[in-house]
Amino acid sequence: MRAGRFGVLVGAIALLASCVSTKPSFQNHGSAIVIAHRGASGYLPEHTIAAYELAIKQGADFIEPDLVMTKDGVLVARHDPYLSDSTDVADHLEFADRKTTVVSPEGEELTDWFVWDFTLAELKTLRARQVREGRTKAADGQHTIPTFGEILSLSDLACKTAKSKPSFGFYPELKWPSAHKARGFDMAGTFKAELARSTNYNICKAPLIVQSFEDWILKDLKNDGYFVVQLVFPVGWIPGAQPSYTLEHVATYADGVGPYYLMLLDLETKAPNGYAERAASLGLDVHIWTMRDDALGSGFSSIDEQIKTMLDAGATGVFADFPDTARRIVDDWNKVHQKDH
Ligand code: G3P
Ligand code: CA
Repeated sequence: MRAGRFGVLVGAIALLASCVSTKPSFQNHGSAIVIAHRGASGYLPEHTIAAYELAIKQGADFIEPDLVMTKDGVLVARHDPYLSDSTDVADHLEFADRKTTVVSPEGEELTDWFVWDFTLAELKTLRARQVREGRTKAADGQHTIPTFGEILSLSDLACKTAKSKPSFGFYPELKWPSAHKARGFDMAGTFKAELARSTNYNICKAPLIVQSFEDWILKDLKNDGYFVVQLVFPVGWIPGAQPSYTLEHVATYADGVGPYYLMLLDLETKAPNGYAERAASLGLDVHIWTMRDDALGSGFSSIDEQIKTMLDAGATGVFADFPDTARRIVDDWNKVHQKDH
């Protein structure tokens, strides 16, 4: 009897140790990956559980929650800390006096409702909306804003749908980290604590990649063993301008780089310009954004042509609003180009 109890205790300790000792991470196996940008945001209001679930059904390798913080310190999924475009906050007269003006990381004055001025309970009274013009609004008003913890609970699905290994991973972005820090929030600490707390996530051990536009928070997470991807863009959003961080700088702490897609191409000819090749030579994965069936880049005649061009230019992952389309194109490309690792 005692030996039986001892065995159970040893088993429980071993399980706990395996949960604690395995760092959330990602292993590139030589195939290009599909990242569902804000969920299947081409079909459903972005950053809702329904949009993530649809992306999973459509075969995304990763679902992407952008994360911001509530007044009471909870990480929730919104693309921006402001709420007017992705929710019905403007219809909630009880929140009319919360509208305020904030300066964005790019120095732009924004007058809006900000997530950090709302408790989680207040945010849960709002409903999500489709943000982009020309997409169906049929599901507007139906879905709430999910917490990061609720999103991690989808790990359940990752392990149910594939018996031997997780079938998808999480690719969270920490949004506006300096603005959160200035308001007294510990974004990285809250992020780590939420991951540690999520039972489903720790049992399933789905792959995890963390991204941000700011380097300091990624350096902090890298020190803790996370797989980190530095997002970069051309300074001032001027085509051909210098990147917000050089590849040489990114390679000192990151596992990958997440550039605006045109940074990989000669702007005139759309031929590879060597950017991805240099990134690969520095050991960096290259995950480009954003591929949209309904908003092709200029000079492209189809989404197939656009995504294949990016893969041929050296992208090893694509953020896509329509994960089913990207899945089909990336699978075709992988069949021919997959490297053995
Ligand atoms: O995180 C990759 C991509 O989503 C970056 O752009 O503005 O859509 O978060 P954004
Ligand atoms: Ca993002």
